[in-house]
Amino acid sequence: MKIKKLTALVTVAMLATTMFVGCGSSSSSSATSSSSTETTTKKLVIGFSQIGQESGWRDAETNSVKDIPNQNKDIELKFSDGQQKQENQIAAIRSFIAQKVDVIGLAPIVETGWDTVLKEAKDAKIPVVLLDRNVKVSDPTLYATFIGSDFIAEGKSVAKFVTDKFGKDAAVSIVELQGTVGASAATDRQKGFMDGIKDFPTYKVIKSQTGDFTRAKGKEVMEAFLKSEGKKIQVVYAHNDDMAMGAIQAIEEYGLKPGVDIIIVSIDGVKDAFVAMAAGKTNFIAECNPLLGPQLVQAARDLKAGKTLEKWVKSDEKTFAGADAAKAALPDRKY
Ligand code: AHR
Repeated sequence: MKIKKLTALVTVAMLATTMFVGCGSSSSSSATSSSSTETTTKKLVIGFSQIGQESGWRDAETNSVKDIPNQNKDIELKFSDGQQKQENQIAAIRSFIAQKVDVIGLAPIVETGWDTVLKEAKDAKIPVVLLDRNVKVSDPTLYATFIGSDFIAEGKSVAKFVTDKFGKDAAVSIVELQGTVGASAATDRQKGFMDGIKDFPTYKVIKSQTGDFTRAKGKEVMEAFLKSEGKKIQVVYAHNDDMAMGAIQAIEEYGLKPGVDIIIVSIDGVKDAFVAMAAGKTNFIAECNPLLGPQLVQAARDLKAGKTLEKWVKSDEKTFAGADAAKAALPDRKY
């Protein structure tokens, strides 16, 4: 009897082990590749270098990319988290080159400093697809395409909401929570906003500092702004929703009402921001689409087929203003 039970246990354990190895071989791991018994045709291998986990938006993009092998059984994904460091991303790209992946996807933390490693990828004949953020390189052929948002347009749409709200002659004091210094998402969102208020000389950005796209830093910087400027602040422009969420906490702790005493405008469109706007705590959201996995797949397939891609595949984005718009949009939000 005892021997029978033991044999049954060993059989279950062996089955479980086999299933785990099977899942592992087809999932998005950084080191493993598909088992040779699984398929006879070679999978298309994509190596993706992610920035990190700084925001809800970033997590949504990561999930979208990590879902690629689940939706495409002929694709293997090698995923690397750069943990907010460019040097980690460069090392990941070099590792993808050494592993001879078919296509490299890169969400570059900052715009500059990529020439050398992108040249190495080009020399190895591995095309690079930029996802979400752009780069500044000496030679545009160092990457195949950029799939992502128009960050300047996002900044302009935020400025338009603010100028429409306050009107031509009002004196408006604005504080800005910038994204990561040197990131295209931060540089261009600032540029777009400044362009948008340039014909409104009474609008002033009285404080501007990086909150690194994180909720904690957004709160910390907003606390400092409130300490020095207090009730003078009329508008918070946050380069992303997470920093806006941090600012809301800081404003509430300071004893003011976010969305009422201080207008809050931000970019991304994560669920938390819609919940806050539905509750009247924030006023305007410019959407930025993080669900870029399927477009990365399409680009990889096209590149493998030898096609030349458009240099910039722009995301479609909407804007949302006020509690009613947030309540109407919330049931359909995907991230
Ligand atoms: O590059 C896109 C930006 O990066 C998103 O707005 C932000 O939330 C993220 O961290």
